[in-house]
Amino acid sequence: MEHTLKTYEEYFSQSAEVRMCHYEKAGRLQHVMLSHQFSISLMEELFDIADHVKEMTRKPNGIEFLKSLLSHKKAMLYFTQPSTRTFLSFLTACQMVGMDTGEVRDPSLSSEYKGESQEDGVRVFSSYFDLIIMRDPKPGFCEYMAYLLDNTGRSVPIMNGGSGKDQHPTQALLDLYTMHRSFQENGGIRNKKYAFVGDLLRGRAVRSSVMLLSQYKDVEMYFVAPPSFQIAEDLEKHLISQGVKITKTDDFNSVLSAMDCVYMTRLQDEYDLSGESNSIDYSQYNLTPDNVASMKSTAIILHPLPRRHEISPEVDADPRAMYWRQLRNGVYIRAALLLYVFNVADRLHEY
Ligand code: CP
Repeated sequence: MEHTLKTYEEYFSQSAEVRMCHYEKAGRLQHVMLSHQFSISLMEELFDIADHVKEMTRKPNGIEFLKSLLSHKKAMLYFTQPSTRTFLSFLTACQMVGMDTGEVRDPSLSSEYKGESQEDGVRVFSSYFDLIIMRDPKPGFCEYMAYLLDNTGRSVPIMNGGSGKDQHPTQALLDLYTMHRSFQENGGIRNKKYAFVGDLLRGRAVRSSVMLLSQYKDVEMYFVAPPSFQIAEDLEKHLISQGVKITKTDDFNSVLSAMDCVYMTRLQDEYDLSGESNSIDYSQYNLTPDNVASMKSTAIILHPLPRRHEISPEVDADPRAMYWRQLRNGVYIRAALLLYVFNVADRLHEY
């Protein structure tokens, strides 16, 4: 398809449903851009692959076999916004399946410093690598890069490792994978109550995870936030159109004891325009041993991390605290995604 939209702003102004059409090839995911791309059946396929990968990493010959699967591919990690977990878990996942990697994390050390455009830079990466994993502060920018690359005749898959306040689809996958594993013996993801807590307006992890979760039957969602940081209008409209029962509140302790999953988030003050975070008393959106005591014994606590003060470190030892396991799950589900996108996941059965 010829590209006719000249700026990424113009491209991004289209609906997600229109943009999504560009991200498939021969009925398979080519680019991983939006959580909208993952149906329940695709997620379940990825969860099975991730379980398989996890199991194999426990045995030396499993580790060797995994490394043989994509040893002919190379990945570029282009992260222009800070990251610890997403960068390192993608790097580890690449190593796990045998991919060599390159990276640019500081554009001042690349030729962007000399005035090269990001568009040209990404085109260079596509000439040297078979996959680009990128994080950028501009919403929709990596989608636009994928769209442009598709018109060069040398397109390689791009995976979105976080796009501004907008999307973090692989975080959503690892969140859902953690819910899936945690609730395996307890009826699965459906028919449960989920609370999302904190800065919900600017947290891309919540935005992407809520979108995925909304596909499951009979989930109830509680959005616990200061009124000025409640979920965005478009997300609320989407949930209502999906028939999801939602409750918005700023009273955390009034809902805590009824929840099956509590998803905590930090204040995203890097997106402040004029100090709007300063007037917020964020201590009302914290978990401490005192209020955790009121939670169900079967509930789970998630956090995309990094955290600041919203979960007290004393909560870490509680068996319901899943956030350290959640970040480890990120490696397995990202490895699963690599195997899926390069269409070699079926080879796991040869092991
Ligand atoms: N959860 C997450 O995206 O963490 P990083 O910003 O450290 O990658």
